[in-house]
Amino acid sequence: MLGYGLLEHTHCIPNQKAFEETSVTTHSLLLLPGDGIGPEVMAETKKLIGWFNENGSVRFETDEDLVGGIAYDTHGKPVSEATMEKALATDAVLLGAVGGPKWDNAGYDVRPEAGLLRLRKDMELFANLRPAICYPALADGSSLKKEVIEGLDILIIRELTGGVYFGEPKTIEDLGNGQQRAIDTQVYDTYEVERIARIAFDLARTRGNKVTSMEKRNVMKTGVFWNEIVTQIHEKEYADVELEHVLADAGGMQLVRWPKQFDVIVTDNLFGDMLSDIAAMLTGSLGMLPSASLGAPDPKTKRRKAMYEPVHGSAPDIAGQGIANPIAMIGSFGMALRYSFNMLKEADLVEKAIAATLDKGLRTPDIMADGMTRIGTSEMGDAIVAEVAALAAA
Ligand code: IPM
Ligand code: MN
Repeated sequence: MLGYGLLEHTHCIPNQKAFEETSVTTHSLLLLPGDGIGPEVMAETKKLIGWFNENGSVRFETDEDLVGGIAYDTHGKPVSEATMEKALATDAVLLGAVGGPKWDNAGYDVRPEAGLLRLRKDMELFANLRPAICYPALADGSSLKKEVIEGLDILIIRELTGGVYFGEPKTIEDLGNGQQRAIDTQVYDTYEVERIARIAFDLARTRGNKVTSMEKRNVMKTGVFWNEIVTQIHEKEYADVELEHVLADAGGMQLVRWPKQFDVIVTDNLFGDMLSDIAAMLTGSLGMLPSASLGAPDPKTKRRKAMYEPVHGSAPDIAGQGIANPIAMIGSFGMALRYSFNMLKEADLVEKAIAATLDKGLRTPDIMADGMTRIGTSEMGDAIVAEVAALAAA
């Protein structure tokens, strides 16, 4: 089970009103807007957090800090020790985006992306949930045919703290004969595959009850291993869920051929990085895809460490122009409501508000189409908050 155990105590207070007056449930959020369009899309998410603080049943206490290139410029590191401490202590981190050409020449260890990878690794956020949902209003906006993506609702579960991203050795060495050798290492231990498989099966049970595991068992030892472990966990604990194995390259092909055949896809860190970018475009724009990165539940509190971020990057080419699509960032906050705070109604509200805003024809340039109304980042944020308010009042 995905453990929450967060809000139960507030539901059984005999005198709810007296309780609310003395102590409203408060959740802490660490906002890390980062680089490029990160601060712009985060600003829109802050509007929504503000709306919930004024109108919701819980309070979000936010703190803001630096990550990525801006942290490197300020502290000489893409994430400072003080920021790491805050990230480990907070209830949930919301991250915008990191990176940009300005830092192309920063050393490998201090490049903006290293800040993001350190957050994932040190918070042990091994499970990355990347849902790809095609909103009805955007079914015409994909580069694929409408019938291929209309009604699409799939969930990619990417392993996030292992594999070739973190395996050692990871070096470029001098062979001394005028040649160099570059090495990345793909490593997976049993427990790493087991725990990500369990997340996939648990979530499949709440949706279409089907898991597709993608690896390269025809080439890689880690692929053979991944396949075996997922099969074992399935037989022992999740025989009621449908499981299929698809080679990762064929999986990429199937994702663009007929993506609706999938429900939950579970895959390693590198394949997950690539397959989720492919899945993102099925929805019309990379600007639409939110993500959640979760750790193991704390044995005492059941609380999982968590970070929520859009799948898109810092998009330096459009940064500062007020045209970025804030939907993936706002949707990521929606995922925080769902997975960190068990606020399922509120999470649904955010998703419905996004759909309603799109239904009204409002579009940032990345999802603009004939006959629609082109708006900027801030107008999109305002429109979504207005829809949240209208839907909550209805
Ligand atoms: C992602 C990104 C990151 C990754 C980069 C920015 C390090 O592409 O979250 O998909 O490769 O994981
Ligand atoms: Mn990526």
